[in-house]
Amino acid sequence: MSHLVAYKLENCPSPSRERIDEFDSGTHTIYLFKSLEISDLMVSMGRGFGFGKVILFGEHFVVHGVPGIASAIDLTTEAEVQKTQDGITIKDERRSAKGYTEKKRTQQKESIQRMLETMGIDSEKTSLEIRLGGNLPSFSGIGASAASSVAITKAIAEELGMDLPDERINEIAYEAEKAYAGTPSGIDNSAATYGGLIWFRRNLSGGSNTIERLSIRQPVEVVIGNTRVVANTKEMVAGVAERKRENPEKYDQLFSRAETLALEARKALEDYNLREVGRLMNENHGLLQEIEVSCEELDYLINLAREQGAFGAKLTGGGGGGCMVSLTPGKELQESVAQAMEKKGFEVLRVEIGV
Ligand code: MEV
Repeated sequence: MSHLVAYKLENCPSPSRERIDEFDSGTHTIYLFKSLEISDLMVSMGRGFGFGKVILFGEHFVVHGVPGIASAIDLTTEAEVQKTQDGITIKDERRSAKGYTEKKRTQQKESIQRMLETMGIDSEKTSLEIRLGGNLPSFSGIGASAASSVAITKAIAEELGMDLPDERINEIAYEAEKAYAGTPSGIDNSAATYGGLIWFRRNLSGGSNTIERLSIRQPVEVVIGNTRVVANTKEMVAGVAERKRENPEKYDQLFSRAETLALEARKALEDYNLREVGRLMNENHGLLQEIEVSCEELDYLINLAREQGAFGAKLTGGGGGGCMVSLTPGKELQESVAQAMEKKGFEVLRVEIGV
């Protein structure tokens, strides 16, 4: 048997531990305690992270099989997971938009439930403490839910000794995303899992989605502006589906233009023709207004960015509030657009796409 030695009682990790002996060394009194099992001393913990993202082209249209383009941003959500004794607990320490955490709590619980089920883990018999942090704020529209789903999935897998490839992490996060988006396309969790700039097309027949990595000459500065309106992606996605059903002719035309626009945008990005990318972003926002997912606050920030010289601006993500993104190549332009929004009291993120 091994023992734990302390020369002062207060130096012992747990003074209440069974004391076996004590003796005087001349300068100190040495106490001998019964030791802990080594497994008690080692605290295991699983860790994981997921990227935040902006959708540059095709949100909402992508749910219905139109291609979309998303870019991860260099902000991430980090998760730590530890086995405990008290069921599933969540400590969400992310910086968040006012009301975000409360409004998303039920969806967050459902998403973790879905995640565990997909991983084959019995939530009744498993106790885990999940802690969320990182530098990606939880604002609507920048992939906060997908980044957290990916981060938690990775952290649970590590804590429970499951070795999962990225493809499996992405599938599990997709199932978790259903709690937030109802019928998600898969673009958010793919960006959160793989990072980078991606071309995404949902396979509507249930097979694998198309996920292609795009590369551009160099990263481009963008400004993300937050309306501070917490949006419900599930309701926004369901609303578009309903209006599409009710108005097939109008929506077919808009969806067909969104498809052409995504193809043009891919070419413009690959040619590094940023003026054209910006122009197409503006046009994409027009389509999003037509399908009724923009709102006053988003339109206000988008116009402000354009007036300040942004190459293009549009809402990003589910809309109905949340965030917009403006293309502002170069630090100087990025700064002037960001400051114009801040002067009006909005919170912004200065990030890059295509990193
Ligand atoms: C949300 O970030 C993007 C949507 O297109 C939903 C989805 O694709 O899952 C609105």
